[in-house]
Amino acid sequence: MTGGEWEAGTKAAALDLHGSHIVIGQPLDRAGATAIREAIAGRRAAIITDTNVAPLHAAPLADRLGVDADAILTITAGEGSKTRDEWARLTDSLLARGYGRDSVIIAVGGGVVGDLAGFVAATYMRGIAVIQVPTTLLAMVDAAVGGKTGVDAAAGKNLIGAFHRPILVVADPATLATLPDVQFRNGLGEALKHALITSAAELRWLVDRAPLLAAGEARPVALLADLVERNIRIKTDIVARDERESGPRKMLNFGHTIGHAVESVSGYSLLHGECVGIGMRAEAMIAAKLGLASPVLAGQITGALGTLGLPLRPPHRLDPMAVGAATRSDKKARAGVIEYALLADIGVPANGGHAYGTPVPERVAREAIADL
Ligand code: GLY
Repeated sequence: MTGGEWEAGTKAAALDLHGSHIVIGQPLDRAGATAIREAIAGRRAAIITDTNVAPLHAAPLADRLGVDADAILTITAGEGSKTRDEWARLTDSLLARGYGRDSVIIAVGGGVVGDLAGFVAATYMRGIAVIQVPTTLLAMVDAAVGGKTGVDAAAGKNLIGAFHRPILVVADPATLATLPDVQFRNGLGEALKHALITSAAELRWLVDRAPLLAAGEARPVALLADLVERNIRIKTDIVARDERESGPRKMLNFGHTIGHAVESVSGYSLLHGECVGIGMRAEAMIAAKLGLASPVLAGQITGALGTLGLPLRPPHRLDPMAVGAATRSDKKARAGVIEYALLADIGVPANGGHAYGTPVPERVAREAIADL
């Protein structure tokens, strides 16, 4: 098998989640574009993308869809663009161009583009349709699916946002051929999370394929299609049961309380998936300290992170007090106490008497950060 190009045997799949149609493994220059054109259904479309993805995928897609170059709104690539200022600039651009309620936004890019464009769609004229076209592994396996949209605030990530279901998600794994390795590993952090919250078999599937997944541009597209489909199935199964995160969806936050805090204290110098990996390791250590999991779990996570080429700890020592303090801005705080989504074992949520959300004293979190 060779990478980057469509291979005979690459499987296509389609799923539905709360009215969102999800198409996996259809090329964006053929059936993927047809699915988007059908979903646009004659509405006026604007594409939101970033400076990296615009020339690679957004401009060619606009051509195929007959969308004007003037309707491509481009943000600077990177987490720094996921702001209320950028939301204002984009919504002002749409207003200046006279987009109405019957318009559709097409988000072409990674998680930042998808979250920001989704939030623009959620709020523009009280909500217009959005189509998600994820072009990074992180966005395909996580951000583009499930309807969470939003922007960051100085106080923390994703603190301003809305649930807004995309009408269509098109994930073409061939777009991953151009993804830098570090961005690919960023997505593997979330894929590892899905495997860990699902089963030992799912974890084995992922780590067994680590050598092929590390093959840069030679990663087989058929394998990428499989990886994306497995992850989207895991996520949609959970979100179908709990869209608004009052129960099982909380498990998708495994690793994220510490992960977001590490991300913020390290000044966003580490990527989200890397921080989630570090966060899962720290949160397994927390579960062990609280007597909710065996220390073996943290060891298994350490092994998987190493095999997948993900960092075990931040490259520079972070102050445990600062990381502990940063966990306080987590959305999962209930009555001022931070609730973590911990695992008791692979595929088994720790309950500690609180289904899906375990209160963790900040002192225990600081100890785990110091032990990383
Ligand atoms: N990224 C976690 C979720 O969608 O719930």
